[in-house]
Amino acid sequence: MKIIMLGAPGAGKGTQAQMICDKYNIPHISTGDLFRSNIKNGTELGKKAKEYMDKGQLVPDELTVELLLDRVANEDCKDGYVLDGFPRTIPQADVLDKELTKLSDKIDFAIDVEVPDENIVRRMSGRRACLKCGATYHIEHIPPKQEGICDRCGSELVQRDDDKPETVQNRLSVYHEQTQPLIEYYNSKNILKTVDGTKDMNDVFEDIVKILG
Ligand code: AP5
Ligand code: MG
Repeated sequence: MKIIMLGAPGAGKGTQAQMICDKYNIPHISTGDLFRSNIKNGTELGKKAKEYMDKGQLVPDELTVELLLDRVANEDCKDGYVLDGFPRTIPQADVLDKELTKLSDKIDFAIDVEVPDENIVRRMSGRRACLKCGATYHIEHIPPKQEGICDRCGSELVQRDDDKPETVQNRLSVYHEQTQPLIEYYNSKNILKTVDGTKDMNDVFEDIVKILG
């Protein structure tokens, strides 16, 4: 099963992607996590990506597409995957579509997690992330068992550099301008499914499982 998660920054794409991957035993591929891990390891790609991410802008397609195509070519992706944060522009979606068509393959579902902008800034300010395994928490709604420590891998939790309120505003405008058009793109391919992301995370997940079957 191949799934794309759509939705504004902070809508809960990563949270739901992780739950889907745990249930269906397929890899969770987040381009944001891949960039953050490159930044942490001080790679050339990480240095370039950080310039854009810190401003809340998209990393250019030419840096992003190759990273993603390399990742999905891995052996662990042969039975499916969840893409979280990719595609984010129409050109990225076109490249993915072309690559999959070459393999006589396709995306099964594009799931749009809908959350109004008003809720987003509040969610982001309470988010804590594990840069090692990608797990995400919220200090009020979804706290870790032990404060500041990841439940999954025991690493330290941090606040993301791009979760400052002014950067979040910018990420939201970039989302509306460049990423939201993908909703119509996948609707026209008849694979778009929409869920209400303002519900409790377990209820959102239940709605997604009903869609996936
Ligand atoms: P990325 O890491 O993908 O960030 P994003 O899309 O902005 O989304 P987030 O990770 O912020 O939010 P999310 O939807 O995953 O929400 P989460 O589950 O964490 O990208 C970062 C940057 O990398 C981009 O700005 C760009 O520069 C670059 N980039 C990445 N991919 C790219 C691409 N393809 N092309 C170009 N550039 C790219 O949830 C948010 C918070 O809410 C958490 O604290 C969570 O615990 C909480 N929460 C989740 N669900 C609920 C719920 N139901 N109720 C209450 N709280 C909840
Ligand atoms: Mg995320």
